[in-house]
Amino acid sequence: MSKVDVVLGLQWGDEGKGKVVDVLTPNYKVIARFQGGPNAGHSLVFDGDGFVLHTVPSGIFRPDSVNIIGNGVVIDPVILQDEIEAIEAKGMDITGKLLISKKAHLILPTHRMLDAASESAKGKGKIGSTLKGIGPTYMDKTGRNGLRVGDILSPAFIQRYEALKYKHFGLLSQYKFPFDITEYEIKWFQAVENMKRFTFIDSEFTVNRYLDADAPILAEGAQGSMLDIDFGTYPFVTSSNTMTAGVCTGLGVAPSRVGKVMGIFKAYCTRVGSGPFPTELFDATGERLRSIGREYGATTGRPRRCGWLDLVALKYAVMVNGVNELIMMKADVMNDFDTIRIATAYKIDGTVTQDFPFECPDNVEPVYTDFPGWKEDITKVRRYEDFPEAFKNYIAFIEKETGCPVKIISVGPDRSEIVIR
Ligand code: GDP
Ligand code: IMO
Ligand code: MG
Repeated sequence: MSKVDVVLGLQWGDEGKGKVVDVLTPNYKVIARFQGGPNAGHSLVFDGDGFVLHTVPSGIFRPDSVNIIGNGVVIDPVILQDEIEAIEAKGMDITGKLLISKKAHLILPTHRMLDAASESAKGKGKIGSTLKGIGPTYMDKTGRNGLRVGDILSPAFIQRYEALKYKHFGLLSQYKFPFDITEYEIKWFQAVENMKRFTFIDSEFTVNRYLDADAPILAEGAQGSMLDIDFGTYPFVTSSNTMTAGVCTGLGVAPSRVGKVMGIFKAYCTRVGSGPFPTELFDATGERLRSIGREYGATTGRPRRCGWLDLVALKYAVMVNGVNELIMMKADVMNDFDTIRIATAYKIDGTVTQDFPFECPDNVEPVYTDFPGWKEDITKVRRYEDFPEAFKNYIAFIEKETGCPVKIISVGPDRSEIVIR
């Protein structure tokens, strides 16, 4: 019987999940998002064209794939509609290819305002949210006030929308945050209407029945493990479980039906927004990673903070996710580097630790191991054997430290720029 394989980010997001899911989709019948929402920006590059997906699973461009937005996801109908229009402008009709869980929660225009108000009130201590309304929507979900996709079909939908909206108005007045949702609200209701052309499903039945029929499923994570609500660098995290466990609650599959867990990491680290980042570089090397790696947010355009690969955080993520296979992205960005560093421990107040701490203080000092750069263009390599020795040694070190094989190595943004071992 088939299982749900998982692709998820092991760092602070933007590891390259979209690209890898697009590459792996031909091996699967169903691609499913299980958490997060339009805070995600997953880039796909093929046929000389680039796409950024926020809510729609990254399997959408492959023929015959079924794409599910699971119950764990939060949806802004306006952003979803823009995305669908951009996809269909390519000449595809995705009406039958996209299934949406009735139990996924809706991001209301006022959720976006609450996100902005909360961030503004935090001042310097802000999370650096993408301002898509993610936190307030998940708060209403756990607070048992939320509106779900299935509610769209209820005669009481408008009434329930208005009740929640006025509750939010009350909260916004406490923040003394000026806002105007008039225009967005009109677009929102039009987009809600447009959503009705898609099939609303109980994803738990759909997913389990596909598995019963031996159809393999790939679950596509959003964000990364270090942004997980429980295990990330709280409070500088997102509001969902970004890890393997989130697949179970976000789709309705039992842990026994989860198969391979593929963890993605960049050969260096990036982070957008605030919060701890022990290996962050504030020098010319950090700038070099940002410019060669084009490290600017796919959703917000913000410059990403850049630094060396952090094995303390990576090993932690491998552990909490039960990763079986690693996927390494963007090593090509460091093709010209003389020396490449990997943090293998942290020194905190004189004590060396390999365990990711409860809180990362400002004075955490990474302990580095240095590797000679491979100084060769690896973007054209398609077989593992053809990689330079220095690069293979670097990979072997990561495998030894994490106890996980690196099975896929991405050497450029395009769908074709990949080495599968
Ligand atoms: P995601 O959120 O995990 O899907 O990642 P993003 O799409 O936000 O960010 C990854 C960025 O790196 C995108 O611009 C990709 O096109 C690009 N990318 C993906 N893989 C590679 C790679 O192996 N090398 C290079 N140079 N760029 C890559
Ligand atoms: P993908 O799926 C990188 C970050 C934000 C902020 C924090 C909370 O493309 O990897 P939120 O809007 O969720 O309340 O923001 O999380 N963040 C991401 N960073 N990639 C993402 O998604 C992210 N989604 C949220 O920058 O620091
Ligand atoms: Mg992204």
